[in-house]
Amino acid sequence: MTTTHDTVLTSAERLAELDLDQLKQLVGLVEYDSTTDPFPVTGWDAIVWVVGNATQAASYYQLVYGMDLVAYSGPETGNRDHHAYVLESGATRFVLTGAVDPDSPLVEHHRAHGDGISDIALEVPDVDTCIEHARAQGATVLEEPHDVSDEHGTVRRAAIAAYGDTRHTLVDRSRYDGPYLPGFVERRSTIKRDGDHRIFEALDHVVGNVELGRMDEWVDFYNRIMGFTNMAEFVGDDIATEYSALMSKVVASGNHRVKFPLNEPAVGKKRSQIDEYLDFYRGPGAQHLALATSDILATVDALRARGVEFLDTPDSYYTDPELRARIGEVRVPIEELQSRGILVDRDEDGYLLQIFTKPVGDRPTVFFELIERHGSLGFGKGNFQALFEAIEREQAKRGNF
Ligand SMILES: [Fe+2]
Repeated sequence: MTTTHDTVLTSAERLAELDLDQLKQLVGLVEYDSTTDPFPVTGWDAIVWVVGNATQAASYYQLVYGMDLVAYSGPETGNRDHHAYVLESGATRFVLTGAVDPDSPLVEHHRAHGDGISDIALEVPDVDTCIEHARAQGATVLEEPHDVSDEHGTVRRAAIAAYGDTRHTLVDRSRYDGPYLPGFVERRSTIKRDGDHRIFEALDHVVGNVELGRMDEWVDFYNRIMGFTNMAEFVGDDIATEYSALMSKVVASGNHRVKFPLNEPAVGKKRSQIDEYLDFYRGPGAQHLALATSDILATVDALRARGVEFLDTPDSYYTDPELRARIGEVRVPIEELQSRGILVDRDEDGYLLQIFTKPVGDRPTVFFELIERHGSLGFGKGNFQALFEAIEREQAKRGNF
């Protein structure tokens, strides 16, 4: 392993005043040799959402998730099609888009999918190299490499199709110092929040739900087209509740900043949570975003106080002697975790603390995970059983089980 330019900070990380040691802890960043990588990825660029009401969602993510408004595009800036609000927290950037024009393509996206993620945009050092490789490997190129410029400089971008209606826009912003992209103006929050605890500092992983029997195809897509490598963790038939199950594998960019667990439903006696997602999202899509925090207890307390609902964890999870023995010593007494419903998982590298919210929109589709890593590079495989049981109780309440 050698240190390469890929282990420098992304522009967003620098702005968030995060350093490499913090990122190793927060999101499991690793050093790697990018010279043999056919599709080098620096890190996340933005998560672009299509929502039913971007104007209100922008307030929600500022007030509840503590994000900062940094840029805007809309009718006042010459964009008559839609509103777009750019929000940041630490190194994470969300772009919330919602239609103004009733004929906007965003209306159709929202009708099909509800609130969801249309674009998982990635920062790359060389857009053209990535597209050349992706095309040669059979990727669908949705946007050819092109420059967009304004008084802040030039951004080079292109886009390829991923699962469902999801795309990966590839962005080289090394020659640009504007607030987001040409076409956007700087816009600062007018919201006064109480307290200054940052809810989350970075994006750890984005999970994709794909159709039954197609997980390996998408693992192959990320391996072959984007040069991602497989991470050790996978979940097969051994992880299932009595009624429903999923299969899961994880692919990651060379430096592990970008991690994509991919789920497919497994056949169970009843409809699985992945089936429910696929029905209500009308196909494959991003299922959850894991937001990395260095203090999950304070984060969960703050989010609960602002009305965020989390999946319940049964008390039996914490009192089970097998689990207690497996997780060993963690940084706080287990009662502190139990009172908040925070889950623990441990592997040979360390442990992680995690918790999952209920769906963020009206459909039972997209949700968040909060994650605090302590050495573990896993995704909470040991918690799948406890988690599934909790999710299925919610599914049953909605009558979808
Ligand atoms: Fe996750």
